Amino acid sequence: MRLLLVHSFFFSFGIARAAVTAYGPHVQSPLGTTTAASASYTGAASYDQTILTAPAPPNPPPPTQFNIGLQTGDVSGLSIQQEGSFFGFSIEFSVTTQVLPFLNLMANLRQRGGSVKIRVGGNTQETATLVASTPDGAALEKDYGRQSNPTATPPLVFTSEIIKMMAEISALTDVYWYMGVPFNDTQNWRLQIAEVGEAMLGKYLIGLQAGNEPDLYSRHGHRPNPSGLQERIRSSHRCSERRLNISNKNLLIGPNLAGVWTPPDIWQTGFATDFNQNLAALGVERYPTDNCYAIFGIGTPRYGQDMFPSFLTHQSGKNIVNEFPGAPAYAQSVGKPFIMSETNTASCGGFPGLSDSFGAALWGIDYALQLAYSNFSTVLFHVGGQSVYYNSTLHQWTIGPAYYSALVVAEALGSSNTAQVLDLQANGGNDYTPGYAIYENGQPVRIALTNFITDPSGNNDYTASISIGGTVPAQVKVKYLLADSVSQIYNFTWAGQTFGGPFTSDGRLVGALDVQTIPCDQTNNVCQVKVPAPGFALVFLTDNALSESDQSPTMTFSTTTYTNHHGPTVTIDPSVLATSNGEKGLADALVGTSKSRQMSSALGFAQALPSLVAVMAGALVVGRLAFMR
Ligand SMILES: *[C@@H]1O[C@H](CO)[C@@H](O)[C@H](O)[C@H]1NC(C)=O
Ligand SMILES: *[C@@H]1O[C@H](CO)[C@@H](O)[C@H](O)[C@H]1NC(C)=O
Ligand SMILES: *[C@@H]1O[C@H](CO)[C@@H](O)[C@H](O)[C@H]1NC(C)=O
Ligand SMILES: *[C@@H]1O[C@H](CO)[C@@H](O)[C@H](O)[C@H]1NC(C)=O
Ligand SMILES: *[C@@H]1O[C@H](CO)[C@@H](O)[C@H](O)[C@H]1NC(C)=O
Repeated sequence: MRLLLVHSFFFSFGIARAAVTAYGPHVQSPLGTTTAASASYTGAASYDQTILTAPAPPNPPPPTQFNIGLQTGDVSGLSIQQEGSFFGFSIEFSVTTQVLPFLNLMANLRQRGGSVKIRVGGNTQETATLVASTPDGAALEKDYGRQSNPTATPPLVFTSEIIKMMAEISALTDVYWYMGVPFNDTQNWRLQIAEVGEAMLGKYLIGLQAGNEPDLYSRHGHRPNPSGLQERIRSSHRCSERRLNISNKNLLIGPNLAGVWTPPDIWQTGFATDFNQNLAALGVERYPTDNCYAIFGIGTPRYGQDMFPSFLTHQSGKNIVNEFPGAPAYAQSVGKPFIMSETNTASCGGFPGLSDSFGAALWGIDYALQLAYSNFSTVLFHVGGQSVYYNSTLHQWTIGPAYYSALVVAEALGSSNTAQVLDLQANGGNDYTPGYAIYENGQPVRIALTNFITDPSGNNDYTASISIGGTVPAQVKVKYLLADSVSQIYNFTWAGQTFGGPFTSDGRLVGALDVQTIPCDQTNNVCQVKVPAPGFALVFLTDNALSESDQSPTMTFSTTTYTNHHGPTVTIDPSVLATSNGEKGLADALVGTSKSRQMSSALGFAQALPSLVAVMAGALVVGRLAFMR
């Protein structure tokens, strides 16, 4: 089955000459409500309305009042210095045309963390082929007739227009890219992606991921898995490194293991030392669990409701870190960052009701900060296509939990790139009430406090009594991430602002910013900060710590401000767009079958414009299609 898809975003850049098309199933389905943990929902994941039941509060409950004493100066146990772009995203090549519109989402992150890191790769990278042109003039085409592996990933071809678009995004929002290089065929290397990538992206290309999950090759049916494949990775690297015609030779990232082999299996081949000068970073990929059975009928059946409690603890992130004992330290010893280059709640698309829940947002924060504390240098949350539950993350206009986690972590680390993270073992190391301190230059600047418990009675709200070596400031500022329950799936608020419900966001936070001021007791050296159940609080100990985490907005990409004078009608009544849930229509435009005529006229329009205006115009076109429905 080959159906026409129209990817409106390309028009917005005025890049594509002919109509931009790609092929894939039309998967939009109506919003529906299913019961908890249902595996029978067959629509696209982003439309799934499954609501789980929040786990009951633990019995006995953790203490609701505890002290956090922060030292200053030469504090032991701090992580390495972390960048504000620590928390980034990983997207499949096959969905780049659907994900990339979110300039506003990228701008939000840049405003907080200084820059953004995105990896384009995943299963699709292995078969991706850069071509001069496609028969239909499309920038990207998927061949659904030739799906090969358990994740039903279609081979794809794409043109340099894709990379040109990435460069436009970088120019506008400071996005740095990791790109996947196909490793499926070691006889006929297809390394043009790297070469064109470097030529077009320049400094914004920060890594070439050489091979994705090579330890799963045989399982995915790409290649036999002879003993000694470690050795093959090694030779592959040597080979690709020789053949790569790029000027920056230290861009490779490996070994990108999925978990069949352990990092020491690879280190002992000399991988990180022999190729040291070619490596940008060492990387691994890991999900805490998978939902492959529900989607593909393979592996162990698992249900979101059963899995939910295991995500709502401090231990969850620690368990993942514990799978890589010594690896971050080893990376430090060979002078390389250690990155978690693909992760999320569960592979094979996540769990309905869990992966899109507020609980997942709290989990994402605690897990990412645990990785930071444990000396990982970057974490990239994977967002797949529309039929994955975490798709909602960067999904056009439905903003999911991982994006809230990303915003929060960007603010927790701030833009100084000197943040050092300390796990406070808060509340006697209690699993439900974890806390971290973020230091800069020996001074604590922010404190991150989570409450994983859901208890509307308020009995499990807790108060942390913070004291600081020297004395506490007269007051602290606090931003809260809130929802009524860990099972809530939309409308979370961060400092009072939200991205709303499904298909209601243009990537900008809406609502009044609510930063709370909490007076401290300087006589007794204590600041009392309350954290509701459930909830997360980010405490800013100084004004500078606050401003560093939220620089004034640079630019936003408005869907309403541009009025077209040049081409076919692509205007929109701002009041309609402001209140519409029209992005449901946007989704349809992106995967729809019948919009090509409007899109073609939009193309003529966008081509007449310089790129920034064209970006706005593109959003506008999208908006129009949306509310026309
Ligand atoms: C690798 O992928 C490309 C593109 O899909 C395909 O043409 C080629 O046959 C594959 N090679 C191997 C060895 O699987
Ligand atoms: C390598 O790239 C340079 C500059 O892009 C080009 O001039 C040269 O022909 C390339 N060499 C090979 C072997 O492809
Ligand atoms: C992280 O690295 C720093 C600097 O090497 C070290 O002092 C610290 O103990 C490490 N943290 C962990 C959790 O290993
Ligand atoms: C996510 O899902 C929605 C609706 O199910 C779909 O329209 C959209 O294209 C998907 N996003 C990505 C990035 O694939
Ligand atoms: C989100 O909040 C808005 C405003 O309070 C409300 O109208 C909407 O129904 C909520 N959406 C969901 C999915 O709960």
